[in-house]
Amino acid sequence: MQQTLSIIKPDAVKKNVVGKILDRFESNGLRIAATKKIQLSRADAEAFYAVHKERPFFGELVEFMISGPVVVSVLEGENAVAKNRELMGATDPKEAAPGTIRADFAESIDANAVHGSDSLENAAIEIAFFFARREIL
Ligand code: CMP
Repeated sequence: MQQTLSIIKPDAVKKNVVGKILDRFESNGLRIAATKKIQLSRADAEAFYAVHKERPFFGELVEFMISGPVVVSVLEGENAVAKNRELMGATDPKEAAPGTIRADFAESIDANAVHGSDSLENAAIEIAFFFARREIL
């Protein structure tokens, strides 16, 4: 059993497809152990994506992530980290396999509908960033 962090990004929340995306997780063997809708502050977004702060897209990434509410969830299941990444598809929706969340709901590499932890180690860090232990059930 693993846990991983999912963020449904502002583009997908604005499109009103939160339920459709959560259904992809539940229909593919992942359980929602925690979920909440929040508005990230600039400091939140900068801290969450600190690993990317030297990348040329960092400024746009932060602006985009604070452009509206997001839905953060803890997903649990066998191989949850890899399973979530498989369901999301490639970071750039133009390269995402048909039937993946990004192929179906994302517009661009910036507005790419979802984020998912890229390793078990980062999953633990990202989950702790958003959730208290008592919120994960
Ligand atoms: P995410 O999985 O949330 O992690 C970092 C985000 O940066 C990524 O999804 C993309 O939305 C965004 N991004 C913008 N440009 C790039 C790029 N060239 N390479 C990787 N990520 C990018």
